[in-house]
Amino acid sequence: MSQGFPRRDFLKTSAAIALSAPAVLQGQNANGKLNIGWIGVGTRGYAALDWLHKAVPENVVVTAICDTYTGHLARAKDRVQTLYGITPKTYDDYRDLLADASIDAVFIMTPEHLHHEMTIAALRAGKNVYIEKPLAHTIEEGFDIVNEWKKSGKIVQVGTQNRSSSLYKKAKEMVEQGQIGDDHYVRAFWYRNSAPDDPAWRYFIPPEANPHNTDWPKFLGPAPERPWDPQRYFQWRLYWDYSGGISTDLLVHQTDIVNFVLSKTLPLSCMASGGIYRWTAKNDDREVPDTLSAIYEYSDRFQINYSCYFGNVHYGYGEQFCGNEGTIEVLNRQDLYFYPEKYRNVDTRIASRPEVHLNGLKDFGEQDGAINHFRNFIEAIQGKASVIAPPTVGQQAAISGHMATLSFKNQKKIVWDETAEKYHFA
Ligand SMILES: NC(=O)c1ccc[n+]([C@@H]2O[C@H](COP(=O)([O-])OP(=O)(O)OC[C@H]3O[C@@H](n4cnc5c(N)ncnc54)[C@H](O)[C@@H]3O)[C@@H](O)[C@H]2O)c1
Repeated sequence: MSQGFPRRDFLKTSAAIALSAPAVLQGQNANGKLNIGWIGVGTRGYAALDWLHKAVPENVVVTAICDTYTGHLARAKDRVQTLYGITPKTYDDYRDLLADASIDAVFIMTPEHLHHEMTIAALRAGKNVYIEKPLAHTIEEGFDIVNEWKKSGKIVQVGTQNRSSSLYKKAKEMVEQGQIGDDHYVRAFWYRNSAPDDPAWRYFIPPEANPHNTDWPKFLGPAPERPWDPQRYFQWRLYWDYSGGISTDLLVHQTDIVNFVLSKTLPLSCMASGGIYRWTAKNDDREVPDTLSAIYEYSDRFQINYSCYFGNVHYGYGEQFCGNEGTIEVLNRQDLYFYPEKYRNVDTRIASRPEVHLNGLKDFGEQDGAINHFRNFIEAIQGKASVIAPPTVGQQAAISGHMATLSFKNQKKIVWDETAEKYHFA
């Protein structure tokens, strides 16, 4: 199977376009603040209301929120009142929110399968857009968004926030200064575990939820029709119709940050393997693996060895940049370590490099990169910065995720043709 796309200047990136794109501020209010609309105020969207306020308390006001679950909408309305001292307009249809000409920018934090239609509609409505990762549910949809963004002249930031973390910026700087020498190999992992009565990704389902107070057809959007299913609504990550599973939910953060730190773009190939090994209860109808390994080859003699498992959390989260002169590892998005190589007959120039430990909170006052990422988006709209994760970059991360899903589902190695922008199976 292979997919073709019209030739685009996909890799002639972002930075130039992002800087030249005029950020037209339609509805900036009398206080000079940007009016923000928020689509999706579930787990991420609700928490992020606070992070945006922390990031730019003086520069924005959330004037409208949209969610199809009335419980989430009410909770977010209350939080916006507390944070911003205003009562936001509320919507259950994002198209009505987008029709409000006073809104300058929208944050889209809905399930993966809705990203495409919502981002395209927001751009067509003249909004700047913060779209959560993964950029889209398929490679084709991702290219649609990239193309629409290029036409729009609007600012779009994709939610791969590690790029805005000072720890990863430091890692990039150290690599560029030659601290680890040549790097042909990165090991990246994300391990999780939970008690037997708390299966992975089986998030809380509010007991009062029903097809009406969640607007089931709007949740389904472009996905295949099926009867109301609260598990699918609140635990959408477990089903292929709405999610690429580990690959697009978690892995994309890590391939993205490897690309960032090592100035890479796209892998040449991926071979993925895994399955549902840990969460196998008879009444658990999950479809996506809880165990996934993926090997990526890049064209310049470089490999990422990725693994994710939801049955042991001992090693947590991390990326290990294994250079021939030293190792940089960033663990749990909180700690950066550098170790010089210590092999036999090692050059003293290398062995004498001091070990380094930096902590996100202690050294930079950061939990992770999310708050910086939001600030970067707002400053880009104000013309003071260029976004660090425009759609071209978000699409590169998403392609690596989709490649892992496609390789896993087809049990074949998948190859990306960067010139033709096509994949095929080897
Ligand atoms: N960047 C990160 O580190 C990070 C972390 C977590 C989640 N995310 C991303 O954030 C997004 C949301 O994830 P989540 O964990 O918050 O999911 P969630 O299920 O907790 O929240 C999704 C919300 O969208 C609402 N919704 C569903 N269909 C809708 C529609 N048609 N119109 C409006 N609202 C609708 C739901 O009611 C829910 O409130 C995903 O893309 C996810 O990958 C990113």
